[in-house]
Amino acid sequence: MRLTLRQLRVFDAVARHLSYTQAAQELHLTQPAVSMQIKQLEENVGLPLFERLGKKIFLTEAGKEMHGYSRSIDAQLAEADTVVEELKGVRRGRLRISVASTANYFATRLLAAFSKEHPGMSFSLDVTNRESLLRQLENNECDLVIMGRPPGNMDLVTEAFMDNPLVIIASPDHPLVGENSIPLERLRQETFLLREPGSGTRIAMERFFAQRGVTLTTGMEMTSNEAIKQAVEAGLGLGIVSIHTMELELEAGRLAVLEAEHFPILRRWYVVHRRGKRLSPVAQGFKQFVLERAREYLRLPR
Ligand code: PGA
Repeated sequence: MRLTLRQLRVFDAVARHLSYTQAAQELHLTQPAVSMQIKQLEENVGLPLFERLGKKIFLTEAGKEMHGYSRSIDAQLAEADTVVEELKGVRRGRLRISVASTANYFATRLLAAFSKEHPGMSFSLDVTNRESLLRQLENNECDLVIMGRPPGNMDLVTEAFMDNPLVIIASPDHPLVGENSIPLERLRQETFLLREPGSGTRIAMERFFAQRGVTLTTGMEMTSNEAIKQAVEAGLGLGIVSIHTMELELEAGRLAVLEAEHFPILRRWYVVHRRGKRLSPVAQGFKQFVLERAREYLRLPR
């Protein structure tokens, strides 16, 4: 059987509407053009596909069979179209991104800005700690990761895009608030609240004090920056967090940053993916957006 896609499209429209006039309107064709396509198709098939009874037209047995096929061919073509569109551009892709819990303070703003510029895209965002990000990279479970200091022992493409200063926070009535160059030794008399073991903030903090031979007194352990900030505000101890988590608390005067020697701990943010991963256009687009424009979306407290 020899037929063209154009004939099939016209046939599908007539079969749905059971009307040459309405099919012609839908396809922006004239009615004689529609009749001509159907006539040619019937010749190619070798059987009539419609029959006319009075003023109405109906599908013949062969027409009903053909309609089943024309519908599924149409659905397949639409699917192919979507897939190719996705491959061609950012417009309709899906992005799987995972970010360090601390990076989430700006990552959602970045995603919002990016998706405004690419309204057809969709994304899934996983917010988790460093350890679990590394596992996701290992298992190829996400397109891109935003994290602090990537490990050297994995085959990754990593690009730094922004500083991430870690600061010591205290409740505003803490006696060290307002002092300058607080010696690290002095901090030994304080209790520090800790993030959970898989946290990048925690690793950076431990490395910093270990390198300087200072052993801190540590208190409670918590799995989020929010919990740390609340506990510090409640006077349970001092904390070390990224300045990016502090916008609201500093503005409201609910927490203070201590001016300790050698602080802040300088850490950076990286956008990361596995080497050799074929990034989709949307992932590639978002990565570029992060590298070029992340700083526009950052609100650093004064
Ligand atoms: P975290 O990561 O949220 O796991 O502490 C931040 C970082 O790696 O700097």
